[in-house]
Parts: sequence; C-alpha cells; structure tokens
Amino acid sequence: MEVIIRPTTESAVKLTAKIIADQLRADPAMVLGLATGRTMEAVYKELARMYREEGLDFSKASSFNLDEYIGLSGDNKNSYRYYMNYHLFNHVNIAKDKTNLPDGLAKDPIAEGHRYEAAIKAAGGVDLQLLGIGRDGHIGFNEPLSSLSSRTRAKALTPETYQQNGPLFDKPEDMPMRAFTMGVGTILDARKVVLLVTGDEKKEILKKAVEGPVTSMISATALQFHNSAIVICDAEAGALLEHKDYYNWVFKTEPQWKAYQNI
Ligand code: GLP
Repeated sequence: MEVIIRPTTESAVKLTAKIIADQLRADPAMVLGLATGRTMEAVYKELARMYREEGLDFSKASSFNLDEYIGLSGDNKNSYRYYMNYHLFNHVNIAKDKTNLPDGLAKDPIAEGHRYEAAIKAAGGVDLQLLGIGRDGHIGFNEPLSSLSSRTRAKALTPETYQQNGPLFDKPEDMPMRAFTMGVGTILDARKVVLLVTGDEKKEILKKAVEGPVTSMISATALQFHNSAIVICDAEAGALLEHKDYYNWVFKTEPQWKAYQNI
C-alpha cells in the first residue's frame, strides 16, 4: 500500500484523476472500476474536463460500478446508475452499453450477484478500481462484518450509512435499506485499487483503515492485502496518520511519482 497526502482536496482529486487518465491513455480498452458518493463528483468533473480539453478517450473502455441500491431503477435520480450518467457517462465518450452496474430491480438477488461477477470475469477483470470510504469504513457497501472474501451480493445497510446517505434523498426515509455491492474479495481481485479520501470527517476512519489491524469490522482494512493499493487523501483526512513523514518521503523519492509532484 502507498499513501499519498496532498495539501488540498483539489490536488488530491486532480492526482486521482491523472492516475486514471494516464492508465486510460496507456491502455484505452481498460476496464474501469468506478465508485459513487460525494467525494467522487469532483474526480468525474475533472475526467470530463480532460475529455473536453485534452481529448481523453473513453471510447474503447468499459466500466463496472461497485454498487447499486436495491429497489431503485436507473431513472430514479437517487440510483447510482443515474449518478454515473449525470456525473460522468453523459459527459465523456464511453459507450453506455459497456458501462455496468448491478441491476437494482433484479428479482433474484443471488442470481444478480452471480451475473455481475460473471460479467466482470468475461470482461477480463477490473484493471483499476476507484474507491471511496464510508464513515463506518465500508468500501462499496461492504458494511462491518462483511467477509473479507465476499463476492457481489445484497447487503443490509447500517444505521450509520443511512445517516450518511439519507440526506442525498429528497425524503431521507426513501433511502433503500439494502444494496447490491461487489464483495471485498471482488474488489481485491482488481489489478490496482485507488482509494480517495477527503475531509476532516474521514480522518478517524482513514487512520484505522490504513494503520489499524485488518478486520472485517472495517472492510477498507482489507486493502492492506492488495499488492497495488494507492490511498490518496487531503491534509484534513490524513491529519491523524502517524507515519505521514514516511508516506511523504516515498511519494517524493519513488520514480513512478516523479511526474505527479506538482499537482
Ligand atoms: C457510498 C458508496 C461508497 C462510497 C461512500 C462515500 O456509501 N456506496 O462506495 O465510498 O458512499 O461517500 P461520500 O464520498 O459521499 O463520503
């Protein structure tokens, strides 16, 4: 795992977008793993800008999102399908039929989990999985006690997640209590993972995720098992990290980060 602490949210977002864009330029047919949530909105805005102003080409790429609320159709404005269209897919040249999310209206949840896993496999697996973190430490919607080898399935959401995401709904009580999510094991299969964490309210959970012991109570700790995991945070979210100096040293000295210093 590598941890990169940037002085501002803007620079953390731009670094994240540049890592994705550079990989897409090197491998235009890559399989992107995408995430939702407030943190990602700025990343998608930056990728859309790169498409418009720098010709970043999504035409050969495909994507798989982490999760989707159960019971919401893609045209419901609180669904993650709607979010993805609104924040990214409508603004770049990705082929919509190559963008995948679990089907929130699937009748048979177990079959839907299997279908999604098979689709990821058929696409050759996820090359780069973008991740955010929930306040309870979830990645995707892998709430506390999610098996660290879990696969895509339906999951009950915690009261904390309800509190965190409810305000995004016109009526918070309309938020579904269940969601489909890639499992922790599914996420760990991605060839590379990039976790972006910003803001003061995430500083406690980020410290536990990166420097704490691995536990199914905090699914993000499973990223410590991944051999190509990059955690990018702003100074606020990184405030409690104990080994900041070491992380900064690695970012400054590792040749692969040379081109990313002044973002
Ligand atoms: C939701 C998503 C997660 C995301 C989290 C963070 O719960 N299922 O994948 O990481 O939101 O959201 P935010 O960026 O709004 O804090």
